[in-house]
Amino acid sequence: MHKARLHGNAPSGAISHARSYEFFSKVVFTGTRRRIFGRLVDLADIGAGDEVLDVGCGPGYLTALAARAGGRAVGVDVSEPMIAEARRRRAGGNCSFQVGRAEALDLPDASFDVVVSSLALHHIPEQSRATAFAEMFRVLRPGGRVLIADFRPPKGHLATHLVGAAAGEAMRDNPVERIAPMLGDAGFDVAATTKVSWFLHCVRADKTGGVE
Ligand SMILES: C[S@@+](CC[C@H](N)C(=O)[O-])C[C@H]1O[C@@H](n2cnc3c(N)ncnc32)[C@H](O)[C@@H]1O
Repeated sequence: MHKARLHGNAPSGAISHARSYEFFSKVVFTGTRRRIFGRLVDLADIGAGDEVLDVGCGPGYLTALAARAGGRAVGVDVSEPMIAEARRRRAGGNCSFQVGRAEALDLPDASFDVVVSSLALHHIPEQSRATAFAEMFRVLRPGGRVLIADFRPPKGHLATHLVGAAAGEAMRDNPVERIAPMLGDAGFDVAATTKVSWFLHCVRADKTGGVE
């Protein structure tokens, strides 16, 4: 999901070919997409009235599910074509989308109850991830929570090689075990780490500061 051909002429990390990505996502999840992303909504504990931010939302599949479970959901993505596709497919009602960078969210402090992000972290340059987590912390209300789901590379030489060839280095070498300590450094209390599927590593953490 990080291969150059998906990027075109776009900001670093962005995926430009939004329609191909939506198709690719359906194929990769082969009938499990609803169940797996529904599990993310459950793990993030999104409930009625929650305001949710989806960082690196792509075509907005998770954003739309979150909007259905919560009160309002906003998807942010650095790729203009991805946001156009998300708007075309999924905007409306309590679901909206805007172009933006995870490292510099154009959103007010303490304006969301939940931040989710799936399969986007490995696109953000490693040196910028701490800034992205600090931004997620900033836009969350005290008592809010974050759920980061990202690709867990398979173990073993052949599998590693195949992932590298198909998807590029960022996925082959993705250090998902660093997510929890980095969230801790950003001020979050890590609540749970979950293996959602063989390839999806998920960390839930809470912004407990300020809550009595
Ligand atoms: C593999 S897609 C995941 C999309 C969606 N979250 C999903 O689970 O299907 C990664 C997305 O992250 C976006 N992205 C990459 N770097 C970003 C950044 N710095 N800030 C916001 N979005 C970014 C890409 O444009 C792409 O749409």
